Order: sequence, then C-alpha cells, then structure tokens
Amino acid sequence: MALYLITGGAGFIGSHLAEELVRRGERVRVVDNLSTGKRANLAHLDVEVIVGDLAEMPVARRAVEGADFVLHQAAIPSVPRSVQDPLTSHRANIDATLNVLIAARDARVGRVVYAGSSSAYGDTPTLPKVETMAAAPLSPYALQKLVGEQYGQMFTRLYGLETVTIRYFNVFGPRQDPSSPYSGVISLFISALCEGRAATIYGDGEQTRDFTYVANVVDGVLTACHAPGVSGEVINVATGGRTSLNVLYRALQDLIGARVEPGYAASRAGDVRDSQADITKAQRLLAYRPTVSFAEGLRATVEWYRASQVTIT
Ligand code: UD1
Repeated sequence: MALYLITGGAGFIGSHLAEELVRRGERVRVVDNLSTGKRANLAHLDVEVIVGDLAEMPVARRAVEGADFVLHQAAIPSVPRSVQDPLTSHRANIDATLNVLIAARDARVGRVVYAGSSSAYGDTPTLPKVETMAAAPLSPYALQKLVGEQYGQMFTRLYGLETVTIRYFNVFGPRQDPSSPYSGVISLFISALCEGRAATIYGDGEQTRDFTYVANVVDGVLTACHAPGVSGEVINVATGGRTSLNVLYRALQDLIGARVEPGYAASRAGDVRDSQADITKAQRLLAYRPTVSFAEGLRATVEWYRASQVTIT
C-alpha cells in the first residue's frame, strides 16, 4: 500500500480524491488548514488528518514525511478573492506550493501531482484550449496557479523530482461548498434555486465554461500518479465541451423545478470569456476519457444537494 498525501484534502476535490483512494485500499494522509475545507468532508473516511498551514515549512515537512505521492490540492481557489486580496492568495497558492515542493524533494517523494487551473490560459482567441498555447493569466489567481505549475516543472528539471500538473476546468459535484460568494457557480446556482432565491449572473451570461464533474478529475489525477512518461507535463483534464451560464441556469431550473429568474450584474474583474479544453493530450498520455457527462454530473449534484442535510446559507 502506498501512502498518498492530499494537501487540501478536507476540501471539495481533495475529499473526493481521499474517498476514491480509501475505496482502493490505499493509505491516505490529509493536510489542511480548514480555511475552506471541513472535517465533515472526511468524517466517513479512515484517513490521517494534520491540521496546519503549508505556508509554514515545518508543517510541509511533517506532512510529506514517508509519502509516496503528493496530490497538491491546497489553494485559495477563487479568481475574485485573488483580485480583492492578492497577498493572501499568493501565500496560499505560491508560498505553500514552494514549501510542498521543497519538502517533497527532500523527502524523496515519488511524484507530486499539482492542481493546475484552466484560468492560466486567459482569453485565448482560439478554442478549445490546448496545452501548447501561451499562458495569459488575467487574475492573480490565474498567475499564481501558473507559477505553481512552472515551479513544479523547474523542480523536475533541477532536482529530478517527478511532478505533473493537471489543469482543472470548473470542477463541480457533491460537497462543493456554496456558502461563500466566492464559491463555484454551480453550487451557488443550485443553492439559490433550491431555496427559491434569485441567483446572480455576472455579465450577459453568454460566457462559457467546460464544467467538469469531479469524478472525471479524480480519474485523471490518480492515473497521473502512475502513468509513465508524464513527469514535467501539464495536462488538461475536462470534458472538452462548453456551456454558457444562461444554458446552465435553465438546465438547473428544469432539474430543480424552480422558475425563479436570475438577476444580472456587471461582469467580474479578471473573468475569462470562454473556456473549453482540448483533452487530446490527456487521452494520449493518461488514456483519459470523461466517464461522467456534464448532464449526468449535474443530475447527481442536484440530487446530492437535495439529499444532504447541509444547511445552505
Ligand atoms: C476559475 C477557473 C477555474 C478554477 C476556478 C476556481 C477559469 C476559466 N476557470 O473559474 O479553473 O478552478 O476559477 O474558482 O478561469 N458567476 C456568476 N454568478 C455567480 C458566480 C459566478 O455568474 O454567482 C460566473 C463568473 O463570473 C464566471 C462563471 O460564473 O463567469 C464561473 O465562475 P466560478 O465558478 O467562480 O469559476 P471561474 O472563475 O470560471
């Protein structure tokens, strides 16, 4: 049995990785500062939990000790939050990442798989977005995520630490927390519609995203731990489609059976217009294909929010 360290493992995506690894009989350790993660996300799992802030080096060193793989998910994953408070996001997204890489190098970890972000592409004129395109970050968050992946590649070149970046595209699913204005849009729309409140669409709602159900990301990340010939690579993991916010909103209205109309507000600073992944590289290097479609994922997510006892505020 290998030991997997999941940084940010009490969060939305991290807890899904933990769940799948435990299901496969692997050993899991989580390190999380519980800033957005919750212990409740792991309550059903037999995992070791370290509560601490990876921006402090001793925490990073203690966390990676004995780990075979590090799945680095810890971050403040919000574009608008980074626009408002770039320093706090920098500390969480860059300082902590550098600590994790140094600690992983020194502890001779087998491979680090890093949670990259589609936001690194910015507003490229061409869709879908392919990994060979030049990055063009539009927000501190996007830049920080890009720096994290480049640090990983540099550690591979300089020190021989195996690193892989999986670029996520608007991941959604059960346990995504809708309680902050910075939460992912699908969680916010579902919670509003379930409570009969009007959600807010920023801009005209015609911006598009490659919304990706979390199980697809779990597949991609766990395959990237073991796949040969991927060290130093940056790989998109998504569905390859794109959906506008207006279409998303209507799909959720139908699923939930709520007719309340959205309010429209000014576009958010740092927002990307269109986002759609080319997933050819993931197919080639990871034999990846999305196993849960956007529509199936949306149904499963709505069902989860309905069934869960979570009080949506
Ligand atoms: C970005 C990144 C994504 C990253 C995520 C972390 C891009 C293309 N993607 O997502 O890789 O993982 O940050 O948060 O940059 N919106 C509304 N109403 C709301 C909330 C959001 O209309 O109440 C809109 C936003 O303006 C945006 C879209 O919905 O156009 C998606 O927003 P959000 O879910 O916050 O994610 P991104 O910023 O796209």
